Amino acid sequence: MGSRVQGKVAVITGAASGVGKEDALLLAREGARVVLTDVNEEAGQAVARQIGDAALFIKHDIASEDGWKQVIAKTEEAFGGIDVLVNNAAILAYGTIETTTLELWQKIQRVNSDGYFLGCKYAVEAMKKRPNGSIINMSSISGIGGVSSFCAYSASKAAVAGLTRTVAAHCRAQLYKIRCNSIHPDGIATPMVMNLHADKSAPTAYIREKDPKQLQARFCQPQDIANLVLFLASDESRFINGAEMRIDNGYAMWAD
Ligand SMILES: NC(=O)c1ccc[n+]([C@@H]2O[C@H](COP(=O)([O-])OP(=O)(O)OC[C@H]3O[C@@H](n4cnc5c(N)ncnc54)[C@H](O)[C@@H]3O)[C@@H](O)[C@H]2O)c1
Repeated sequence: MGSRVQGKVAVITGAASGVGKEDALLLAREGARVVLTDVNEEAGQAVARQIGDAALFIKHDIASEDGWKQVIAKTEEAFGGIDVLVNNAAILAYGTIETTTLELWQKIQRVNSDGYFLGCKYAVEAMKKRPNGSIINMSSISGIGGVSSFCAYSASKAAVAGLTRTVAAHCRAQLYKIRCNSIHPDGIATPMVMNLHADKSAPTAYIREKDPKQLQARFCQPQDIANLVLFLASDESRFINGAEMRIDNGYAMWAD
C-alpha cells in the first residue's frame, strides 16, 4: 500500500477487464477511492468487491450522455467529487478502408470517440470544483501511425489524441487546474487483442507474429500501462498537460 494518490477520487471506465481493471486496483492500492464503470456488470462488480469499501461499481455505457450524468452524480454523492478520470473503455474490430461498412465505422466512433468526448466534457465541469484534476485518455499507437486493418479503430484513437490536445489547451487558457494527457500503447496482453490471435482469417501483423520473442517485444502487460496512469493521476505529473505518451518499446522508431 502506498499514498501516491491518497485522498483522490478516480473514475475508471472499462474497469471490468484488462487495463482498466489493473488501473483500478493500482490506484486503490495507492490511496484513491475508485469508481469502476463498465457495460459488463458481473465482472465489474467482482473487481469492486476485490477492492472493498474504497470502490464503487456503476453499470455504464460510455456512449450514453445520460449515463455520464449519472456517473458524475453518483460519484459526487458517494465520494464528494472527482479528481481523476481514466477514459479507458473501448471496442476493436477488423476492417480496412475497403471492407469497413458505415455501420461498423459509426459503431466504433460512437464508443471510442463520442464516449471519450462525453467523458471529458462532464469531467471538466466536475473537476472545476476540485483543486487538481487529471484526465487520462487511452489512445493507441494506431492513433499516431494508423493500422491498415483497423481503419475505424485507428481513426477513433486519432480523434482521442486530438480531443486530448484541445481539452489541455482549453483548461490551460482558462487557468483551470485540470490536465489532460493521452497514452499510446502498441500491444497489451489483454482479452481485447489476445483473442485476435485465435482468428486465423485475420489480415494483420498481430496474427503473423507467432514468434514468441516478437510477441514479447511487442506486448506489454496491463501493469505497464497502469504505472503511467498512476503517475499521470498523481500530482507528481502536475506540469504535464497535453502530452502524447507512447508505451510501445520503441515500435514507432525507425530501425535499420
Ligand atoms: N490491448 C491492446 O493491445 C491495446 C493497445 C492499445 C490501446 N489499447 C486501449 O487500451 C484500453 C483498454 O483496453 P483493454 O485492452 O484493456 O481491453 P478489454 O477489452 O480487456 O477491456 C475493455 C473494457 O471496456 C468495456 N467496454 C466496452 N465497451 C464499453 C462501453 N460502451 N461502455 C463501457 N464499457 C465498455 C468492456 O466490457 C471491457 O471490460 C482501450 O482504450 C484500448 O483501445 C489497448
